[in-house]
Amino acid sequence: MTDPLVIFTPSGKRGHFPVGTPVLTAARQLGVDLDSVCGGRGICSKCQVSPSYGEFSKHGVTVQPDALSAWNSVEERYDNIRGLPKGRRLGCQATVQSDIVIDVPAESQVHRQVVRKAASDRVITMDPATKLYYVQVAEPDMHEPTGDFERLGEALTAQWGIGPTTAPLPVMRRLQPALRKGKWAVTVALHKGHRDAQHRVLDIWPGFHEGRIYGLAIDLGSTTIAAHLTDLRNGSVAASAGIMNPQIRFGEDLMSRVSYAMMNPGGDVEMTDAVRTAIDTLTVDLAGQAGIEPDQIVEAVFVCNPVMHHLLLGIDPVELGQAPFALATSNSISLDATELNLSGMNSAARVFILPCIAGHVGADAAAVALSEEPDKSDDLVLIVDVGTNAEILLGDRSRVLACSSPTGPAFEGAQISSGQRAAPGAIERVEINPDTKEPRFRVIGSEVWSDEPGFDEAIATTGVTGICGSGIIEAVAELRMAGLLDSKGLMGSAEQTGTERMLPEGRTHSYLLYDGTAENGPKVTVTQGDIRAIQLAKSALYAGARLLMDEMGVDTVDRVVLAGAFGAHISPKHAMVLGMIPDADLDKVTSAGNAAGTGARIALCSVAARDRIETLVRNITKVETAIEPKFQEHFVNANAVPHATDPFPKLRA
Ligand code: FES
Repeated sequence: MTDPLVIFTPSGKRGHFPVGTPVLTAARQLGVDLDSVCGGRGICSKCQVSPSYGEFSKHGVTVQPDALSAWNSVEERYDNIRGLPKGRRLGCQATVQSDIVIDVPAESQVHRQVVRKAASDRVITMDPATKLYYVQVAEPDMHEPTGDFERLGEALTAQWGIGPTTAPLPVMRRLQPALRKGKWAVTVALHKGHRDAQHRVLDIWPGFHEGRIYGLAIDLGSTTIAAHLTDLRNGSVAASAGIMNPQIRFGEDLMSRVSYAMMNPGGDVEMTDAVRTAIDTLTVDLAGQAGIEPDQIVEAVFVCNPVMHHLLLGIDPVELGQAPFALATSNSISLDATELNLSGMNSAARVFILPCIAGHVGADAAAVALSEEPDKSDDLVLIVDVGTNAEILLGDRSRVLACSSPTGPAFEGAQISSGQRAAPGAIERVEINPDTKEPRFRVIGSEVWSDEPGFDEAIATTGVTGICGSGIIEAVAELRMAGLLDSKGLMGSAEQTGTERMLPEGRTHSYLLYDGTAENGPKVTVTQGDIRAIQLAKSALYAGARLLMDEMGVDTVDRVVLAGAFGAHISPKHAMVLGMIPDADLDKVTSAGNAAGTGARIALCSVAARDRIETLVRNITKVETAIEPKFQEHFVNANAVPHATDPFPKLRA
């Protein structure tokens, strides 16, 4: 007689197993995603399944009510103490008796996590470097004199197949009380990075530990530090927050921070201390937001540009300010959080920093590559992470190129006369009527356009405070489309343009976008200086992209992905009118949101992804914009709006 057929849903995986096989064992043998923290001891309840009974013609089986074993004493004890939901069984206790269809509910599947992105969802396999294990350790014996830690290691090997294990001294100090309090059973948080030879105990609790462990995915930008507090069991985000990078007081952009380090002895140490303190503050804030203890944070993954990378590590970034822009190290780095003096998380927490691609192309660009996977794309994709420094990737399955381009802070609203960061009250959307030359706009925090009824009420609390990066891009592009700005980027007078909104300003002119009132805020104008700043920024961006296209030997790209928090808010049409990005079908220009942050989350949730990005980074061809003579030529040509020589046929269509 053949062994009973076991079918798991929703995976559809199936196989024959002898009568008496635990459901958890069958799931493991078939590769079904079914959780277990206690190793099948009926303690954690993570292995819950829902057996289905009746006729399943699709599968050709009829399932009898006794297809699984009756409740055993372990399940009864669990149900008495904690209660099992109706229809649920513990997969580690219930055994197969005859043909059975078993559903694995979503909360019992932990190895599949959907990472939500702006344009698409990405499914990653949960495989974090740090996991919890419940283990029963042999009691000490005078005749077998081994240490408690050695017996813990033996138990981990016997019960979980785990190899050599080590522990830092502070954890070792807590081992003996935990073992005795837990009556020789403990839960340990074990960490093993992709290049580690040994597991490392990061924390220990007596008995079965109900609590959860978390990791931080941190995008350490020159302007903003953004972090996601992530549950390491299932990859869900418990809290997200961002703060300004306090290093701004030492210089707005990267090169001014490198200059600060060059010109002020100890300046690099000041900047290192400032950013580490900010990370501690952010960590504690996130823990508070999620209602967890900072000790529960056992890992952090960082993505950052090379200057931030060095300053985080406490390495003087001076070499990054001059050719050949040598990194102290380009490999990924694993280390203890305490080595970075980070004190906002568990004292044994581990840190992983993604590899840098080159002296100007950092771990943030590597994270974008991990998130957007240009190396798996059939069509040629240009990925632009827009920030104070733009990271640019171009590639497909055959080859991936990368460079960075110094766009400066204009896209973030800095260097703009009425500019501000994206915050409530900032103008973010602009339209200019080509016939009347009159503007309409929308501010962050309001859904109502300025020429619609209810606008004044909609902005009653915020007012109109200035214009942010996406707003100024739209304003300049709209000025061009309305005939108020020529291809060189010059605005005419009121007489030349036929609109009183064009105000004289010295020998140039400004366009009055919003004639502010005392209650609603200041005047917002677009000055000739603003247009110049945007021209410089967009020329740098375009020239970087064009340089990669030269290297690839192409004049067009199939797709454009705008990444970065700012990239998510840019209108593709206006970006193209401005000549920020090369000509492409507008429906092939998409936003990826904070792709660097997504890459950090992926690396936090998957050890395999850490391995993958190291291989990918080794295969990316780096193009250095700073020493490439063609860059200057592309930059000058890109000053025109949209461009002096490159055609934009899709834009005209
Ligand atoms: Fe822990 Fe079943 S695996 S209760």
